[in-house]
Amino acid sequence: MYQRSVHDPSGFWSDIASEFYWREKWGQQVYHENFDVRKGKIKIEWFKGGMTNICYNCLDRNIESGKGDKTAIYWEGNEPGLDSSMTYNQLLARVCQLANYLKDVGVHKGDAVVIYLPMLMELPIAMLACARIGAIHSVVFAGFSAESLAQRIIDCRPKVVITCNAVRRGSKIIYLKEIVDSALLESAQKGIVTDVCLTYENDSAMKKEMTKWTKGRDIWWQDVILKYPVTCDVEWVDAEDPLFLLYTSGSTGKPKGVLHTTGGYMVYTATTFKYAFDYKPTDIYWCTADCGWITGHSYVTYGPLLNGATVVVFEGAPNYPDVGRCWDIVDKYKVSIFYTAPTLVRSLMREGDEHVSRYSRKSLRVLGSVGEPINPSAWRWFFNVIGDARCPISDTWWQTETGGFMITPLPGAWPQKPGSATFPFFGVQPVIVDEKGVEIEGECSGYLCVKSSWPGAFRTLHGDHERYETTYFSAFPGYYFSGDGCSRDKDGYYWLTGRVDDVINVSGHRIGTAEVESALVSHPQCAEAAVVGVEHEVKGQGIYAFVTLVEGVPYSDDLRKSLVMVVRNQIGAFAAPDKIHWAPGLPKTRSGKIMRRILRKIASRQLDELGDTSTLADPTVVDQLIALADC
Ligand code: WT7
Repeated sequence: MYQRSVHDPSGFWSDIASEFYWREKWGQQVYHENFDVRKGKIKIEWFKGGMTNICYNCLDRNIESGKGDKTAIYWEGNEPGLDSSMTYNQLLARVCQLANYLKDVGVHKGDAVVIYLPMLMELPIAMLACARIGAIHSVVFAGFSAESLAQRIIDCRPKVVITCNAVRRGSKIIYLKEIVDSALLESAQKGIVTDVCLTYENDSAMKKEMTKWTKGRDIWWQDVILKYPVTCDVEWVDAEDPLFLLYTSGSTGKPKGVLHTTGGYMVYTATTFKYAFDYKPTDIYWCTADCGWITGHSYVTYGPLLNGATVVVFEGAPNYPDVGRCWDIVDKYKVSIFYTAPTLVRSLMREGDEHVSRYSRKSLRVLGSVGEPINPSAWRWFFNVIGDARCPISDTWWQTETGGFMITPLPGAWPQKPGSATFPFFGVQPVIVDEKGVEIEGECSGYLCVKSSWPGAFRTLHGDHERYETTYFSAFPGYYFSGDGCSRDKDGYYWLTGRVDDVINVSGHRIGTAEVESALVSHPQCAEAAVVGVEHEVKGQGIYAFVTLVEGVPYSDDLRKSLVMVVRNQIGAFAAPDKIHWAPGLPKTRSGKIMRRILRKIASRQLDELGDTSTLADPTVVDQLIALADC
């Protein structure tokens, strides 16, 4: 299949695409691409001219083939014992009601809708409702701060924002509606006014009477939705019409609005899900990711539902009420495919095997890992302890930009190597290039690129096609550059080695150093900041910030706390620096460029590997930094 997929992509993918419902078939050409900046504008199109709808393919199509009474979603609340479930029929009815409401308040094809929800069933419902009417959803992870949410609202100008009043995660309660209120205030001050804030009453967390309300703008979901019909006509869209925008961090500047379109994304997420998890109709599938990230788009919502799968959606935290919660859920729903991130594996590994072994886990069949390279010791624990050495692990390498898996095992099909994502998926042609962009063959290491398009590839960055081209296609002309380092062993296995740009991966969350720096320097007492990633036992990478204070301001613990607070407020708690290192000065070249290489060595205390510091404008800053390392 792989051979055919790369030698005859048109035939391969059109055969698969034909399994879906198309109102009208695509044109003569299955795909069209220009992957080479030297030949003009970068352009990727799949199934252009084909008319379809991804919501129809997820729901109506499966219902028509007899899956109406199959469970689509098992929802497990934060509190054990709080749960519910929904069949494909019921899910379709709920999606249609919301879709009708959205149309009624003036959401048209091509309009944006921002979704700021925790892992309630209403989150996939809202995504599917947008897709049904051709609206573009932009889900913002509900851990982002008001400022980050405002920034995204300003960029994509939604007609409607969908949220809920509050949510409990573990023992914490988060007042989402208040965060949305401040974000809407901030965006309105910048001239972007959102007409409607549709708010779901999550009464397990908070009663509606306690919620602050802006009359005329705020609407309770439960007050309006039930009045709408449970059927709703589908908006047939071109395969290349936008499906969603999802913001992600880059090495510079503000977050990028990654744009995915309909047809190619649909075919790709469905196919990757099916093969990389060896999906069978009797499986119960649980992915622990939040729909606020790409994993939740492709592998909580679209990929599984396109396959007619039963999905577990979990609202809570994996360590609440105790660290056995995941296995409790696995046993409760008889989960057979369990997909998670290395950071979770490592954090549970520290707690000891007894929290795992008291659960049966007999239902498990395939395990999956995503978000960062999984270190071999965590891989072995996942394999031996969680999976009782029975379940193959799909270590899936991919990105927000790629839409779906790029390098992944086909479970059971070939020997595993702990820590390697193994081989490319169908249709994917990875290459490793050297600094000059020259392809290297065989056993080697270098930069991971891709040589030609695949259906799930993103098509542009919202409002900034130029940034799309310069970020991804200009570093090594002729290729898509992933931003990751990689090596290939003598057997052809791929080993991802992490980002080579200024992006940090904290617990599988992608954070741009530039974003954290700009938050820090907005603090009135901070003159300059430089942020680097440093190895972290559980999170993979931690955030390490060097901070230069305004002249005359003394170091203090309070100041340290307020610097961390600034980052929490501007980005979100997940981006809070782990360490603030006072820096009287930063190591810069004579032309003023910060030498991050040196900062990384200081942060990881590899002081004998600082290398040549003689090119610095002031080499003495290095000694000052070392002296302050443990202050
Ligand atoms: C970056 C993409 C893709 C969904 C989650 C993150 C790293 C992701 C793996 C893996 C090694 C991985 C890469 C990539 N990454 N999965 N299996 N092995 N590295 O999506 O936020 O777009 O981040 O995550 O560095 O570039 P994202």
